[in-house]
Amino acid sequence: MKLKTDYQKIINAIYKQIKEEEDLGEIAKYIPELAKVDPNKFGVFLTTIENEEYGIGDCLEKFSIQSIAKVLSLTMAYQTLSGNIWERVGVEPSGNPFNSLVQLETDEGIPRNPFINGGALVICDMLLTQLKNPKQEFLQFIRDISGNPSIHYSEAIAKSEMSAGFRNIAVCNFIKSFGNIINDPNKVLDFYFHMCSIKMNCQELSQTFMFLANSKFRNVKNEPILNLSHAKRINAIMQTCGFYDESGEFSFKVGLPGKSGVGGGIVAVHPGEYTIAVWSPKLNKKGNSYRGMQFLELFTTKTESSIF
Ligand code: DON
Repeated sequence: MKLKTDYQKIINAIYKQIKEEEDLGEIAKYIPELAKVDPNKFGVFLTTIENEEYGIGDCLEKFSIQSIAKVLSLTMAYQTLSGNIWERVGVEPSGNPFNSLVQLETDEGIPRNPFINGGALVICDMLLTQLKNPKQEFLQFIRDISGNPSIHYSEAIAKSEMSAGFRNIAVCNFIKSFGNIINDPNKVLDFYFHMCSIKMNCQELSQTFMFLANSKFRNVKNEPILNLSHAKRINAIMQTCGFYDESGEFSFKVGLPGKSGVGGGIVAVHPGEYTIAVWSPKLNKKGNSYRGMQFLELFTTKTESSIF
């Protein structure tokens, strides 16, 4: 008989250990509004598929989820467009920074995957074509999955990123030049920056991502989110592309599908077991939370719960 894992005890011990060590990360400053966040925030929240919950630290404080939202926009696009997505965006790790332009030239405007900025912009473009009120409908989609109407965009963060988003503006226009952005690039960028500005806490994130861990999950309207095959594929892309040019490292050290954001959040999924969200704003050189990576490596090691 397998003994029940004492998640709270393990989370508490790792949290304490990491807090005692120096945080060698740097807060993201290229989005001015993100630079205002207290760099010492640190929270963790775990939800099991039996709906048991374990949290510690700043796990109930909302932060900007940034690129973590790319999983949710892909999910929404996948629900309606199914396989047609993959004609316009690939499923290969890029091995490059999230905001790189280089491969787009030789790949003729087809981004390598939906989690680098170019890929997420193409997904936003698909949703813009598909939806009547994209920003409103996307937010509602997340609220329905999480069962939480208190989830909002941060207008201040979206505006701040728009004012300094020169690379994303370049990426979006570059893809448009190849014909793989259909709508007005300004509208695509506005939707993208809003999507990244969404604020959630670790508890909300771990609950929202439950649809990737639990095949029986239903939203508040009692609807399934994705079929089994689509959920498997999203987990596979998180596994191979969720951390940009550090995806191999995350897979190697943590061994779970996951997704990071420059707000310092990371969500990881153990299909059939749990979802876990960690937030600590200081990032390593690849743009992923320094403490978040550390925490998850220790967590899957101590709980012996990597998928491998
Ligand atoms: O587009 C950007 O640069 C940000 N809104 C999102 C980047 C991001 O979160 C990368 N994650 N680690």
